[in-house]
Amino acid sequence: MSAPSRLDAEAGSDAREPSVITFDGPAASGKSSVAQRVARALGIPFVSSGLLYRAATHLVAHSGTDAFDQAAVLALLGAHMVELRPDVAGNDVLVDGRSVTSELHTDRVDAVVSTVAGHPAVRAWVSQQLRRVPPPFAIDGRDMGSVVFPGARHKFYLTASPEERARRRVGERAADLAAVAAAIARRDQGDARQLAPAADALHVDTDELELDQVVACVLDAIRASDSGSTASEPQGAAS
Ligand code: DC
Repeated sequence: MSAPSRLDAEAGSDAREPSVITFDGPAASGKSSVAQRVARALGIPFVSSGLLYRAATHLVAHSGTDAFDQAAVLALLGAHMVELRPDVAGNDVLVDGRSVTSELHTDRVDAVVSTVAGHPAVRAWVSQQLRRVPPPFAIDGRDMGSVVFPGARHKFYLTASPEERARRRVGERAADLAAVAAAIARRDQGDARQLAPAADALHVDTDELELDQVVACVLDAIRASDSGSTASEPQGAAS
């Protein structure tokens, strides 16, 4: 895994302390659950980058802005105060001082978020906000390890088959499996440009693993890397 990051140096932290840990992967690959649990185990905040894209999409949907109009979306974001509050316990997103977190995981937001997130100006707006968060933290998204925090100390890329991801999503939201699978496939396609893993990310195929096993695998990898050990590859890890 990667060497101590620029953020470590800037924060003056002990090189053995976790600083920034990134979890990327496609929709419903389990990255936010894993990142959240790993963060809790390490006693550091968890940051969900997707919430900022979702908050931007929520604003677009509620204002009637054309999601394809990058300039209009950017102007909308400039006219509102969007604040992400990361915490060990979870993340809260405030828009103009009001928490909208509970309104962000809806089919309506899911359907448009890839379009909003596809605008380079929106990506720059999100990246700027994320780079202001003081480390240490564990963060999940699509391009956290590849673009936003290329110097992150530990990088993971979680994958699962489309069928397994659809099954997991159906478990989270009462919905029809075929419809969910189709929505996930559409989102994979919409997110494709952001989905390339960082070259130095450790890939974890979560298909055959329970959540606890993925968390244990990640924590093992972090500890092995921090102790400089060349311990055998954790179960499920490939690369
Ligand atoms: O992680 P999530 O499903 O909450 O993310 C919602 C959407 O936001 C996802 O479909 C694509 C976009 N996103 C992104 O483009 N880059 C990120 N780092 C995180 C999310």
